[in-house]
Amino acid sequence: MDYEAKAREILNSMTLAEKIGQMCLGFISNENLNEMLEAIRQGKYGAYLTYADFSDKKDMHDKIMQASRESRTGIPVLYGKDVIHGHFTVFPIGLGMAAGFNPEFAEKVFSFIAEEASSEGIFWTFSPMIDVARDPRWGRIAEGFGEDTYLTSRMAEAAVWGLQGRDPEALGKQEKILACPKHFIGYGAVEGGRDANTAEISQHTLMNVYFPPFLAAMKAGAGSIMSGYHDINGEPVSASYNILTHMIKELGGLDGFIVSDFGTTAHLLKYRYAEDERQAVDITVNNGMDMDMCSSLFTKHLEKLVEEGKIPVGRIDDAVLRILKTKLRLDLWNRKVGPLKDKGQFKLSDEAKSLSVEAARQASVLLMNKDSALPLSKDIKKLYVAGPYVHARREYFGCWCLDGVSHVIEPVIDILKRKLENVEIRHLDYFMSELILSSEDYIDTVIYFGGEAPERSGERNNITNLRLPEGQEEQIISLANRGKKVILVVVAGRPLSLARVIPYVYAILYVFHPGTGGPEAIAQILTGEAEPGGRMPVTVPVSEGQIPLYYNSIQVRSDRPEHLKYNDMTEKPLYCFGYGLTYTDFKVSDIKVDRNEIRKNESVRVTVNVENTGTRSGEAVIQCYINDCVSSLLRPCKELKGFKRVTLDKGESKIVEFTLGKEELGFFNHKGEFIVEPGSFRVFVGLDCENTIDTCFVVTD
Ligand code: BGC
Repeated sequence: MDYEAKAREILNSMTLAEKIGQMCLGFISNENLNEMLEAIRQGKYGAYLTYADFSDKKDMHDKIMQASRESRTGIPVLYGKDVIHGHFTVFPIGLGMAAGFNPEFAEKVFSFIAEEASSEGIFWTFSPMIDVARDPRWGRIAEGFGEDTYLTSRMAEAAVWGLQGRDPEALGKQEKILACPKHFIGYGAVEGGRDANTAEISQHTLMNVYFPPFLAAMKAGAGSIMSGYHDINGEPVSASYNILTHMIKELGGLDGFIVSDFGTTAHLLKYRYAEDERQAVDITVNNGMDMDMCSSLFTKHLEKLVEEGKIPVGRIDDAVLRILKTKLRLDLWNRKVGPLKDKGQFKLSDEAKSLSVEAARQASVLLMNKDSALPLSKDIKKLYVAGPYVHARREYFGCWCLDGVSHVIEPVIDILKRKLENVEIRHLDYFMSELILSSEDYIDTVIYFGGEAPERSGERNNITNLRLPEGQEEQIISLANRGKKVILVVVAGRPLSLARVIPYVYAILYVFHPGTGGPEAIAQILTGEAEPGGRMPVTVPVSEGQIPLYYNSIQVRSDRPEHLKYNDMTEKPLYCFGYGLTYTDFKVSDIKVDRNEIRKNESVRVTVNVENTGTRSGEAVIQCYINDCVSSLLRPCKELKGFKRVTLDKGESKIVEFTLGKEELGFFNHKGEFIVEPGSFRVFVGLDCENTIDTCFVVTD
């Protein structure tokens, strides 16, 4: 279909008030329901969101859709929701999905999520969250794909393809939904890790670190983009011409529309950027905002501003055309809105179960395994389990989950009891450590299921202390001091510093809030039925004092050891980006490039030999990094440019290949041009960002 022509035809039949209605996303609650139904019937809203659980009004969303169909234009209203990492079936939080280093798998997961959401009439999700984050104090680090631009870009496109389909026409299918990559741009760089705070980002970092994931998402076809709550370089992002119009629409080529974050138009007053509500609307619309989320200020002031000539009709038409084209791509006129499901009756399908367990397995990173404490030895006769996650269900869902069904989750203790039927598993429901320890003196091995409650991460949940929540370190240490062999499982929404407990434990399995399949995947890993599949998508600091600490810094520590050190502690991370152990060992050797010299528009093929040198089969995540040795703008000492997950039997080896071309070798210069500069490049391949072998090649003009 010629969406542009069809959208214009609709636009030409609309009044100014109806056009403005399309630019408003309304908030529906149980309290304002009737009022909103009437407003939608009058064409006052183009979209809506709700956090309400309308379980007593199962056909509510169909009714709302019907109301929009009864409006004079009959343009269907778009229902958007935060289905961030799962609807009924919940998958790992962003960090956990990223730990899988597996975009092909992530695409399947997001496709599954789209299907579940669209079955209830949710045709738009405010996801994926693709803010690169280098500060674990920031609670929303949980939602994104970590600190790396390349990994986040691959995950961003996978999410968009999964939700919308790869073929642009696929978005019209009933089971596909519109993606909304967010929060443009640089939200992860907020000062002090304080949510929605100011971010100061140089042009060079903005374009080369924060922009590429959004560019990848837009190239993958994302039909909408959400701007952030924060301000950067002196402007609130939701009111900046450079950010909204230049970066998203001109550079990114967004054909769809930009939606603000919740209430950001009104925030322009708090920012002291607008004198009053009218001026706030004037600024944001003139600078490129297409849809206002829930401030209701467009409804109040936009029509008048256009009539007074403050905002050109052309700007309104542009916004509405974008919204209409997207609705046409979604085939919203023909979509069926299914009734709300009875969550109490929800059962996990086999597909949902295997997908969620596999996703959770890939979100689990084995950080330490002294004396091969894991998988659990077959000789163990008695096991003690302790810690706040022993009976957890919903806690596995993480910080941003509205509709996840937790009754299908079996607590990890029950799963372990089933899997280890010859082991006596003990647990006391309360934790007065001295009492437990003395009553369980005869048990050697303890698995401590600790970590963060979901509410400790996510929006507005910033912390300054990156250690385990109060009391957990003491419990772990007291168990170890009683001679127990402690195996630590940490379930968390950010990388936590475990420095204090490391000397006391034998193994650490680190699991980013893993969703529905979490306890089963954890139990499978502990018992050795499955491998820990994840690798760290973020650097784990030893202490908050080191922040920001990320692997792809410009300067190399070893080049200036006397300057880049701290006098009072190490400058090294506790665990580096890309790190993660397996139950076997891998050796990467024999790095080769197929050509020592390439032209700027050509590519080079890099190969390594990967051998499983351990005692069982396993999966390696082979990572490829580059360094542009001399450049006109300083480039990172190492940057990820490829990764591959390979499964090898014991003793087996395989050649793993990466291709590095313009996309991988180039960067944005100060003029905003994407260039590849001639000169030497070093390429590193290995099992994490530090454990690599390398070679080099030259790029000529
Ligand atoms: C969050 C967004 C979210 C929106 C709608 C905001 O507070 O920043 O990420 O999509 O609310 O729920």
